[in-house]
This record gives sequence, C-alpha cells and structure tokens, in this order.
Amino acid sequence: MRLQKHRLLMIPGPTEIAYEALLAMAQPSIVHYGDDYVDRHRHVMGSLQKIFQTTNSIMMIPGSSSIAMEAAVNAAVEPGQKILIPGGGMFAERFKEMAANCGGHVVPLEVEWCRPLMPDMVTSALDAHPDIRVMAVIHNETSTGVTHPMEGIADVCRRREVSLILDTVTSLGGIEVPSDVWGLDYCMSGNHKCLESPSGTGLIMISERAWKQMEARKTPIHGWFLNLMNLREYADRFSSWHPSGPVSTPSHVVAALEVSLDNILAEGLDNRFRRHALCAKAFREGMRAMGIELLVEDAYASNTVTSFVIPEGSTDAETVRLMREEFDIIIANSHHPKLLGKMLRVGHMGQTANRNCLLLVLTALAECFRLQGAKVSSPDAMDAALEVFRDQPK
Ligand SMILES: Cc1ncc(COP(=O)(O)O)c(C=O)c1O
Repeated sequence: MRLQKHRLLMIPGPTEIAYEALLAMAQPSIVHYGDDYVDRHRHVMGSLQKIFQTTNSIMMIPGSSSIAMEAAVNAAVEPGQKILIPGGGMFAERFKEMAANCGGHVVPLEVEWCRPLMPDMVTSALDAHPDIRVMAVIHNETSTGVTHPMEGIADVCRRREVSLILDTVTSLGGIEVPSDVWGLDYCMSGNHKCLESPSGTGLIMISERAWKQMEARKTPIHGWFLNLMNLREYADRFSSWHPSGPVSTPSHVVAALEVSLDNILAEGLDNRFRRHALCAKAFREGMRAMGIELLVEDAYASNTVTSFVIPEGSTDAETVRLMREEFDIIIANSHHPKLLGKMLRVGHMGQTANRNCLLLVLTALAECFRLQGAKVSSPDAMDAALEVFRDQPK
C-alpha cells in the first residue's frame, strides 16, 4: 500500500481534512442511491444551502470545481452572446477560455494582476457595452491572493439586470459569500479548499432567474453532462431514489463532505470568517515584520491565501523545496508565466487558518530564506504575528 507521508498543507488547496471526515471515507462501498443515500444527499444539500447562504437549488457534479465553472458558463452563454470577464489572474483567464469554447463573445476587462476589480470599472464596461447581459468573476483570485470587493460589484449587476456568475472556489466557507443578498445567478465552489474535504465534486448554486433564462434560450445547451437543464431533468425524475442526477457519485467523497459541512456549521459561519480574517492579518503582519514585501494591499488581500515577493538571495523553487524537505510543509509558487519565479503563496484556509500553523510557517519560512542567504528577521515576525492574536478577546 502506498501511504502518503503527512505534510502540512499550507497551499491554497487541497487543504487539510478533519479526522472525522477521513474516517467517514474508511467504510465499505457506499451505494449512491436508495434510502440511506437519499437521506445523506438531502443533509448535504441542506448544509450547503446554509453555507452558500441561499434558498436556491444547489447541484453537486462529479469532478472538480472547474466542472461547475464550465457548467455555469455553458448554461448562461449562447453562441455569439457577449459575456464580460474581468481579468487579473489565472482563474479569470480560465473563465475566458471556457466562454470562448462555448461560442461566447468574450468582452475582456483589463484588471492589473494583484489589484482588485472595482465596481466603477464594471459600470464603465457595461456603459460601453449595454448589450452585455452576463458577467463572470472570480471572487478570490487564488493565483494572486486578491479578493475582489463583490458587494459593490454585485450591486452594479443587480441594478443593470446583468446575470452574475461567481467563482467562490477558494472563498466559500472562509470568506463571506451571501449568495442571495448579492443576487448571484450562479455561484460555484469545490470541496477541497475552505470546505476541508477531498476533491471530487463541483458545487454550483443556481438562481430561479438563471433557470428561467436557461428555459428561454434560443439554442439548447450543448452537451449532456455539463448541461444543467439535463442534469436537473434527471435529478427531478430520480430524486426519490438516485438524487444526484444521472451518473454515479463519488459517494465516499460526499460522506466526507457531509462531516466537514457539519463541522463548519457547528463552528458557525461568522466565527469562521472572523478566524480566517484574523489569521490572514497575523500572517501578513508577520511577513511584513520579517522584511517581506506583500503583493496585495491589505484592503483587498485574501483571507485564505497570501502572496508575497521572494526576498533577494532566495528563489521560489528552492524555498518550496526547503520548506518541504526541512519542515514537511507544502507552500505554493505561481503556476503562471506572469508571476512564476517572482512570488510565493501560502494558503491558510479551513484547518490551517490556525495560530499554531501560521507561527510554524513564519518560523520555517524565515529559516528557509536564511539558509539561502536572504536577510530576514524571524523574531520580529513572531512578535508581530503574536501581537495580532494577543489583541483578540478570548
Ligand atoms: C479560484 C479558483 N477557481 C477554480 C479553480 C479550479 O479548481 P479545480 O482544480 O477544483 O477544478 C481553482 C483551483 O485552485 C481556484 O483557485
């Protein structure tokens, strides 16, 4: 048996999984239909509605988060139809590729990498293209560590009656996503980020308005599997015995997700958002005190992933290697040519949005930089991070 050594996952996904969720997977084959499974499915859907903060329907599609992104774009965009897609990161680029692949006319909106998308930028783009009826945005751009200010952006969309497709893959469960208050039409996420579960399904919330728009399409949605209308038809028809639609479900993954969602709701969403915000702040303060330049200004810095410039004298690849080999900690470099070699990212989502993990990472990072000859200060980093935690009421 090939058992993996446990290393601390300080990457922006996959994340650490709670023991109870791991145990939930260590059981005989779980049949994805029949009374027991229907009960589990309903429980998971109920928990997800609370976490998405919605009364709308949610679907769980076998695959990863990208499958949910693509299902949303396929449903919302007809061939030749315009879709506004602000850039600014690797996952925003993915949305553009998906929309172009289903025949959409992508209207790009330039956003500087590591900078936020501001509501007035959306207003100007919509003024310039009044025929745009749909926009797709990444809430938390994991590739850069920016959280876009969605409240104002969603407000612009609501006032203009523009459908909003929002990727919350690395925010849902760690950063507030009030889907119904924001009037989201599609909101997508995945299990293996702030939801602390193994990957295996893409999650998608769909509004009533989105369903009506799908029904009114001039052209049918292409495809069978990533076709939400088709999935809904099967889910409705099979709901009493085979609730997740027409295909086999990764039922062990769903068993783990059920446990993780219970844990998340037991902690309480507000407590969770506070915990992620506090840990992100402490980490940023620690890094700054160490002498490291952060890539995103605090007002738009993500609470689930922090990006920073590699100090002079060190490299991204060697730092990642030393962190793994010397400290059994996994951190991330950039996947994108634009930022590759220039920055590193530390994820602090779910279980690792935790004081002890972050103090350890700060110490280890300082040592890995020092080993390469970079001049950084570890005690200052500890003091600054601890100061943030100390300030908190017990
Ligand atoms: C913001 C964002 N969107 C989409 C994805 C794609 O997720 P997956 O690999 O689960 O398809 C990721 C993965 O990190 C992400 O961070």
